[in-house]
Amino acid sequence: MAGPISFLQVVGAEGERRESLIKELVADLSLDEKIGQMSPSTSLFWHAVMLPRYNLRPYDSGGKNSRGIPAMKFSDGPRGIALNHSTCFPVSMARGAAWDPALEQRVGEAMGYEARAQGANFYGGVCINLLRHPGWGRAQETYGEDPHHLGEMGAALVSGVQKHVMACAKHFACNSIEKSRLFVDVQVDERTLREIYLPHFKKCVDAGVAGVMSAYNKVNGLLCGHNGRLLREILKGDWGFKGFVVSDFLWGVKDGKSAANAGLDIEMPVAIFYGRRLKRLVRAGEVPMENIDEAVTRILRQKARFAKVGDPAGYDRSKVAGKEHAALALEVAGKSIVLLKNENSALPLGRDELKTLAVIGPLATRSNLGDVGSSRVRPPYAVTALAGIRNRAGESITVTYNRGANHEEAAALAKSADAAIVVAGLGPRNEGEYIPLPIVRHYGGDRVKLGLPQAQEELILAVAAANKRTIVVLIGGSAIIVEKWKDHVPAMLMAWYPGMEGGNAIADVLFGDVNPSGKLPMVFPKSEDQLPDFDIKAKKVYYGYYHGYRLFDKKGLEPAFPFGFGLSYTKYKYSNLKLDQKQIPATGKIVASVDLKNIGTRQGEEIVQLYVGYKGSRVDRPIKELKAFARVALLPGEAKAVEMEINAQDLAYYNTEKKAWEVESIEYNVSVGPSSRGSDLLSASFEVTA
Ligand code: BGC
Repeated sequence: MAGPISFLQVVGAEGERRESLIKELVADLSLDEKIGQMSPSTSLFWHAVMLPRYNLRPYDSGGKNSRGIPAMKFSDGPRGIALNHSTCFPVSMARGAAWDPALEQRVGEAMGYEARAQGANFYGGVCINLLRHPGWGRAQETYGEDPHHLGEMGAALVSGVQKHVMACAKHFACNSIEKSRLFVDVQVDERTLREIYLPHFKKCVDAGVAGVMSAYNKVNGLLCGHNGRLLREILKGDWGFKGFVVSDFLWGVKDGKSAANAGLDIEMPVAIFYGRRLKRLVRAGEVPMENIDEAVTRILRQKARFAKVGDPAGYDRSKVAGKEHAALALEVAGKSIVLLKNENSALPLGRDELKTLAVIGPLATRSNLGDVGSSRVRPPYAVTALAGIRNRAGESITVTYNRGANHEEAAALAKSADAAIVVAGLGPRNEGEYIPLPIVRHYGGDRVKLGLPQAQEELILAVAAANKRTIVVLIGGSAIIVEKWKDHVPAMLMAWYPGMEGGNAIADVLFGDVNPSGKLPMVFPKSEDQLPDFDIKAKKVYYGYYHGYRLFDKKGLEPAFPFGFGLSYTKYKYSNLKLDQKQIPATGKIVASVDLKNIGTRQGEEIVQLYVGYKGSRVDRPIKELKAFARVALLPGEAKAVEMEINAQDLAYYNTEKKAWEVESIEYNVSVGPSSRGSDLLSASFEVTA
C-alpha cells in the first residue's frame, strides 16, 4: 500500500512528473506543515541571543515536517560567506570594477562551496540594487550604477553559487538609501522602474535564481514585502519566476495577511507574522489556502531542484578559506583595482630604482574589509596594505611607516623617501549598513558628502608637498570626491575594500607585478551637486529616469572620472569598428567587432565597452547606454578582433500605454572604446527595420 508521499519521491522525479508530485505532496501536507515551510524555526529569543554573533550560524526555516523535507539554511554575503571564518573576497563593488562575469562566476562557485561545506544551502549575497547615488551606505554590496553591467555580474554570481546551493537576489526593489530604508517610500514611474531599476533582477531570474529577497522600503506606497504589484504581477507574473520570495530580516513584513496575499513566501528570520498568526489568518479566510499552497509549491520546487545539485564527492571543510580560494581572492582584488591617475611614470614602482618607500596613513595598517553589518565576513587573516607592500617590496627597499596623525612628521618621513604611498579612504564608520538598534554602535549609514575626511585630505596635501612622487591608494565602497587634492599627486588608485588578500593585491599593482585593469562601475563626480537629490531622511523620494552617466550625459556635466574609466601601465589602440549588418529586424541581433592592439610594452587586460544611442526615438532616451562589454588579455604588440553582440530586444523601451516592451524602428548609434566618455570612442550605426 502506498504511504504518504515523501520528499524523496519528489526529488526522484523530473520535469512535469516532479511538478505533479509536488502538487500531491502539498495537497497532502497539514496546514501546520505548510506554514512550517513558510516560517523560520529560529525563535525571536534565540535571534536576540545570537545578535552579537549575527550570521555566524545559518538561519533555518521549514525543517519541521514528517516528509523528509530539508530545512532551508540561509547564510549571508556578498563578499564571502558570513559563517565562521570564510574567505573574504573583495566587496561586490570591487568585483563590479573587474567587469569580468566569468571571474565572478568562479567567485560564486567558491562561495557556494564554502556555504555548503559549512552547512548552509541558501546564499543571501546576490545584492544587485542599482547605485542611484554613490553615497548609498551599502554601495559596496552591489556592483555599480548600470543595469546591464549589474545584470551580467549578478547573473554570473548566481550561476556560480548555484553549482552548490540556492542563491537569493536582493533587495527587490529600489533599495538604495540606508538611513531611511525601513520607512522610505520610493516613488518611481513605470518606465523608470522597468528600464532602470528592474532589468538586472530579471537577468538573475532568467539565470534561474532560486530566491528573491524583498526590500525594506516601500515602492509607490506599498512596502516591498506587501507589494503584490512587484511580487505577483512583475516578478512571478510577467517574468515567470519559479522560485520563492523571502522577506528582508525582521522589518520586511509588517502584517501577515498583506505579505502572504502579495506573494511573500517566507518570513525571515523569525516567525513574527507567519507561524501561528498566519495559521489563524488562513482559518479565518483572510489568506486563501491557494496562496499558501502556491508558496509551499515554490519552496518545495527549489528544494527538490537543489537536492540534486552539488558535488557528489562531498564538501571538504578544509577548503574554506584555504589556499585555492585565497588565491582567487587575490586574483579578483588585482583585477578590480582602478588606476585613476598616473603621471610622470609615478607608477609602477621599480624595485631597482627605489631605496626607501614611505607608507603613510592609519588605513595602511588596518584590515579594512568593509561594512560590519549583515555583509560582514570574518576571514582567518587579512593582509593590510603595509603588510602587502612589505611582502612584495623585496630586500633592497626599506619600507618605513607613519600613521599620519601628525602631518609634519608624516611629511618629514615622506621627504626622506624616494616615493610615498598614502593609504586613505573610508571604513565601516563612514559607510555601511545602518542598523537602528540601541545596542549596536553607530556604524555605517549613507554619505551625503563624498570627499575624504578632512584630516586625510590635509595629510595627502602635506605629504604631496614633501615628496613629488606621492601615490594615493584609496579604500572605499563607492565614489570618492578627490578634487581638493588630485592635482597635487601624480598617481592614485582606487582599491575598494579589497578583501583578505587586499594588501598583497595593492602591492602587486604598485610594483607592476599586476597591470591594473579595473574600470569604474560608477561615475566619480567632481561635486555632490552633480548628482541626483539624496535626502536620506525623507519619508518619500522620487527616483527619476536619470542618474549616473546617463544624467551626466544628459546635462552635459564633466565628471572627475567617467563611468567605465581606468588606466593601465600599457596602451591600447582601438580601430576598425565594424557591424556585421546595416539593418536588422526587431527579433535580430548585430555583431560588432573592433580591433584591439596592445601598443605598449607590458601585457595587460583591457575592458572594451560598447554603448548604444538612439536617433529619432519617439520617447526621451539616454544619450547612450552600456549594452555589451568584454575583458580582453593582450601581450605586448598583440592584436585581437573583439566581438560583441547586441540583441535588438535589448534596445527596447517600455511602452507604458501598451504595457509592453517596444523595439523602435530607428537608427542606433554604436560607440566602442575604453570608457563611457572620450574622444577615442569609435562609432558606427545600424537600423532596426519594421
Ligand atoms: C539586510 C539583508 C541581509 C539580512 C540578513 C538585513 O538587515 O538588509 O541584506 O541579507 O539582514 O543578514
